[in-house]
Amino acid sequence: MTHPDIKAENKLHEGKAKVIFSTGDPALLIQYFKDDATAFNGKKKGTIEDKGVFNNEISSHVFGMLESRGVKTHFVRRLSEREMLVKKVEIVPVEVVVRNVVAGSLAKRMGAPTGQKLSEPIIELYYKDDALGDPMINRWHIRAFSLGTDEEMDVIEKQALIINTLLVEFFGGIGLTLVDYKLEFGRSPEGILLADEISPDGCRLWDTNSGEILDKDRFRQDLGNLTQSYQEVSRRVSSTVK
Ligand code: TMP
Ligand code: ASP
Repeated sequence: MTHPDIKAENKLHEGKAKVIFSTGDPALLIQYFKDDATAFNGKKKGTIEDKGVFNNEISSHVFGMLESRGVKTHFVRRLSEREMLVKKVEIVPVEVVVRNVVAGSLAKRMGAPTGQKLSEPIIELYYKDDALGDPMINRWHIRAFSLGTDEEMDVIEKQALIINTLLVEFFGGIGLTLVDYKLEFGRSPEGILLADEISPDGCRLWDTNSGEILDKDRFRQDLGNLTQSYQEVSRRVSSTVK
């Protein structure tokens, strides 16, 4: 069932994988999860059947788990298969990538073997700007271009490390290695909140026993079994609910 607020005149923003709608309450928005998939900064486009349903399910459980462990997030509740009610935030235009294992662009940048475990997590910052291809930046760029204050970035980096500890343990408990992932944060009257989504679209998740890739790298690398992989992550994440 579609929520009555999901209608054209309430559409605020359409991104690559989600659409944001306003609601009757100015403090609340609806995130609608699509099946559209993009990679390589939008150069590769496709759809993954039912991805939106699985990502909403996965994200809802993960945000609920984080909230229950004291992390402040925009998550209010899952409304339906593809709809999530969230608090309205102003997204900080800095994408926060957290890495536990070498993969992707880190393997290239550092000439390190994919799969090498890092001795400690790495936080990387990227300017959230599709037209520029989300370039990597540091705290100096963030200050000079007023993307965020030092106080906000201190909170964000501290939260990212706490979130990382909780996520590594959570996914580890369902046989998944959390290799790396991207977080987004938003400003709200309650302070900085974790926003966006946490799903196989923005995470690298490998089956801990077999090493099988269960995330959007299957789409990036044309590995097949796309829906099945998202479904498998969703099945394992949902199995953690008491
Ligand atoms: P990378 O290895 O390509 O830098 O990606 C690191 C992680 O961040 C990976 O799990 C995918 C995620 N990510 C996004 O979700 N969106 C992005 O725009 C980028 C660059 C990475
Ligand atoms: N999310 C980005 C894109 O859609 C990058 C990626 O996931 O590869 O292009």
